[in-house]
Amino acid sequence: QNEIYFAGLGGTVPDLPMTAAGLEVLARERLSPEAFGYIAGSASTERTAAANLAAFDRYAIVPRMLRGTAAADARDLSVDVLGTRLAAPVLTAPIGVLELVHPDAERAVGAVAAELGVGSVLSTAASSAIEDVAAVSGENWWYQLYWPSDDEVAESLVKRATAAGAKAIVLTADTPGMGWRPRDLELGHLPFLQAKGIANYLSDPVFRSRLANPPEESTEAMQMAVLTWVSMFGNHAIRLGDVARLARWTDLPIVVKGIVHSDDARAVVDAGAAGVVVSNHGGRQVDGAVAALDALPDVAAAVGDRATVLLDSGIRSGADVVKALALGADAVLYGRPWVYGLGLAGADGVRHALRMLLADLDVTLGLAGFASVAELDRRVLRSTLAGP
Ligand code: FNR
Repeated sequence: QNEIYFAGLGGTVPDLPMTAAGLEVLARERLSPEAFGYIAGSASTERTAAANLAAFDRYAIVPRMLRGTAAADARDLSVDVLGTRLAAPVLTAPIGVLELVHPDAERAVGAVAAELGVGSVLSTAASSAIEDVAAVSGENWWYQLYWPSDDEVAESLVKRATAAGAKAIVLTADTPGMGWRPRDLELGHLPFLQAKGIANYLSDPVFRSRLANPPEESTEAMQMAVLTWVSMFGNHAIRLGDVARLARWTDLPIVVKGIVHSDDARAVVDAGAAGVVVSNHGGRQVDGAVAALDALPDVAAAVGDRATVLLDSGIRSGADVVKALALGADAVLYGRPWVYGLGLAGADGVRHALRMLLADLDVTLGLAGFASVAELDRRVLRSTLAGP
């Protein structure tokens, strides 16, 4: 797993930077302003995006010594998440419109995640059809649902994902509409983005039945398809009761993403969700919202004993994963760093970003005195709020 680490120890100079921050700097230089702005941008003042990262500084790992955990074969990073066995407690976060970043888009991500034994979550706003991504994504992929306002289309998407082999459905609750995202607004490219994120729809028989003409027929027909999609993307009607409705369309476990309040966590689990993702969408929805890591302990205390708890929004390093797990997460979703990798070098860049995280996690865990992620709990950390 940490070949990338041993290669580095042996003197190999990598093609790409060895930190998430380094990938972002290089992406800013090399990607188009549209692609970079789309990935890096968050809502409004982007303070929540910054707070997501800063929250990790409020906890410090207190390493333990002389426990024999430094040898690579002394450690076990694997976890079982909702019946999905993963080599490490990491899944790639659902990220839409990846064709803007690289033509191989979701197919590159699904294939690399499968190769490394971690999970992947395919976005509804993908640039490739569900079945095409499923064909290369191995066993451990989940499907993320942006619930369109046309319920029959929603049902069709969920049934296709289930038939294609998804292991869970992730209902994103924090995006009944897009946040106030100045960078995308300034670039004026939202209609262009939309057209690149509707492959799940264009390949859907129920969605197609809503169109007067097949989108392949002409530019006008394609424009009409995009408009039809736009009219169903923002579903303002979705409520708690819909979690149970979703469960009628699939036998797969349901995970609700975008939960930061413990009452909401309790409510969705009472409604039948098997898990929650503590997330503020990388700060792209409610600016000024609580940092995801700060929301995690309460959510874990509320539902951790009866549901799977995942965290995203701010995972950048191995230590970040250790802290999230110690505060009650069962696994994390990894977002922006691998998207920069995809933009910089396609599948190789995704592989680089993921291997970097996994090697950093493995080495950090061992040097901190732990042989497995199961050993991580609150006692591993000290809050730095009170000072030394
Ligand atoms: C996202 N996110 C997202 N979430 C989701 O449920 N469906 C989606 O299609 C997308 N699309 C998307 C695009 C881009 C460019 C970004 C950066 C994010 C949110 C994503 O799943 C995750 O919550 C965040 O990326 C976590 O924040 P960090 O760690 O990447 O900053």
